[in-house]
Amino acid sequence: MSTDKYSRPRDHSLAAILAALGIDLLLLCLILIAGISRAIMISSLPLTSSATPAAIPTLTTVIKVYPTAFPPAAPTTTVPVTALPTEPAASTPDPRPPLRVLADQHGLLVGVAVAPWWLEDPQYAGLLLREFNAITPENAMKWDTIHPEPDRYDFSQGDTIVEFARHNGLKVRGHTLVWGNQLPQWMLEGKYTREQWIQILHDHITTVVGHYRGANNDHTVFAWDVVNESVSKEGALFDNFWLQKIGPEYITLAFQFAHEADPDALLFYNDNGGEGLNPKSQGIYNLVQGLVKSGVPINGVGLQMHTDTAVAPPEAELVANMKRLTDLGLQVQITEMDVRVQYINKSLSEKLQDQAGIYRRVMSACLQSPNCTGFFTWGLTDRFSWIPGYTGKPDAPLLFDENYQPKPALDAILEVLK
Ligand code: GLA
Repeated sequence: MSTDKYSRPRDHSLAAILAALGIDLLLLCLILIAGISRAIMISSLPLTSSATPAAIPTLTTVIKVYPTAFPPAAPTTTVPVTALPTEPAASTPDPRPPLRVLADQHGLLVGVAVAPWWLEDPQYAGLLLREFNAITPENAMKWDTIHPEPDRYDFSQGDTIVEFARHNGLKVRGHTLVWGNQLPQWMLEGKYTREQWIQILHDHITTVVGHYRGANNDHTVFAWDVVNESVSKEGALFDNFWLQKIGPEYITLAFQFAHEADPDALLFYNDNGGEGLNPKSQGIYNLVQGLVKSGVPINGVGLQMHTDTAVAPPEAELVANMKRLTDLGLQVQITEMDVRVQYINKSLSEKLQDQAGIYRRVMSACLQSPNCTGFFTWGLTDRFSWIPGYTGKPDAPLLFDENYQPKPALDAILEVLK
């Protein structure tokens, strides 16, 4: 099934999901009982705190404090997430060890991008909880969703995701605070001065990060992609919305505002196409090196890794790039991996083998790099990947197929982790 990049599946009522899965009411009750026991077990497991390094060092620079226009957001009502079964209904149990169990042995977070409505599907949630220890919102925390009008925030989607994570003992990568895309109309049409844009940026980051830091500050949202995709292919600053409104300082300001709002959160610069060694990764390196040198509170670089078999960087380049970032004292995380197969002219099983090789290579590079602390794919199953909607062609870029079955790519990364 192909989906549009940002479209919401039409009908995700319980009745529709049950009908689609062919589950009757009695079976559902049995599943729920099994699910409740499993959820209790999961919540008693320790969280992967070994993958969450210590708080960032105190800043030596003086940070200008801008007054907050919006009061800290009051907790909003969240959709209660009930315990869910962890095995796909009516299927034979998977003999493979869960990915998260092997990843835990390496102190590695493994996660997927999610939309809140997918979490309502017992089969989806069951697979997710069996295999992963972290999630990230695909779109729920982007400006156009979370801050649709100048004086109105909508935390409903993000809250559903964070509550699901909290309830099930998963970590959340917050995504994303500053990006040139998926901005609401009021910003695209907004006529503000530079100072006002800085104020808007400050208020947004303070409110969103403050909201998810929460009263308990339990570090469920342990990290943020503070700035997303600010470097061009050539390695210069990308001429995006924020550069035009504020100038290059928007990057430093964003990290400072995020740090003020949650001093414990790990703060990342996140980008695509700069995973190996090329002008873009050099530009990213130069940028973050400058930030580190000036005492800007940055903790890591997210390597998105939207790739395909033709352009995926060689393992040695990945390791070298991770190493130089590590030497700056930064973590790296693979944040959005998917591997397109639509450009390969081979049988499906050959394509999936080629794809598995890329996943193996990236996981292997991560394990060779002591500061590689996370491995996230941009979706759980091929059924909901953004790629077909984006390219207009069918594809199968993720670790699980359209029927939620494991693919050779999963076996490949399990093998590397064993
Ligand atoms: C970028 C963004 C993500 C997502 C993907 C594709 O990589 O960081 O949030 O939008 O593009 O969907």
